[in-house]
Amino acid sequence: MSNTRHLVNLALIGFMGTGKSSVGRLVAEQLHFDYLDTDELIQARTGRTITDIFGKEGEAAFRKLEQQLVRELAARKRTVISTGGGLPAIAANLASLRTHALVICLWASPEKIWERVRNQTHRPLLRSPNPKLKIRELLAAREPYYRQADVLINTDLRSAREVAQQVVHQFKLAQSEQR
Ligand code: S3P
Repeated sequence: MSNTRHLVNLALIGFMGTGKSSVGRLVAEQLHFDYLDTDELIQARTGRTITDIFGKEGEAAFRKLEQQLVRELAARKRTVISTGGGLPAIAANLASLRTHALVICLWASPEKIWERVRNQTHRPLLRSPNPKLKIRELLAAREPYYRQADVLINTDLRSAREVAQQVVHQFKLAQSEQR
């Protein structure tokens, strides 16, 4: 893999419930970029929900689908890519994203994440007897990967619109520095 970076895309990474999808859509609109959500694309291509893939084939099968998709993303241009929460926790995925995208991590505290996801049911990893503990454990395990992003934005006290503004600002800054 080449070390040269061409920041033609923007990738949002971060834990579940940090607002990657809502922020990603707003950013794509503002930059006039395409929007792509890795979870949505996997579901559209397989015709199955993520819960179903996890349940019937296990997490490893889902991670393989993610890895295949990540390799394809290198061919994209002018795209805001919103990634599943576990995708950057595989070093090769993050390395691949970095070759063509500015990588921005949306961060949130475990308390805030819990507040945002507690009434949602579509995330198999949080179907645990103690989802709050699961969030803490997963977040701690993934933090070293999330911290490798080019930019880290704390979303705890910001609306999706405010976060989107920051993301756009950082992207424009990075592009002007690249010229
Ligand atoms: C996952 C996060 C989910 C989805 C899958 C696994 C994770 O995406 O990819 O349920 O490992 O954190 P979101 O971060 O968009 O919820």
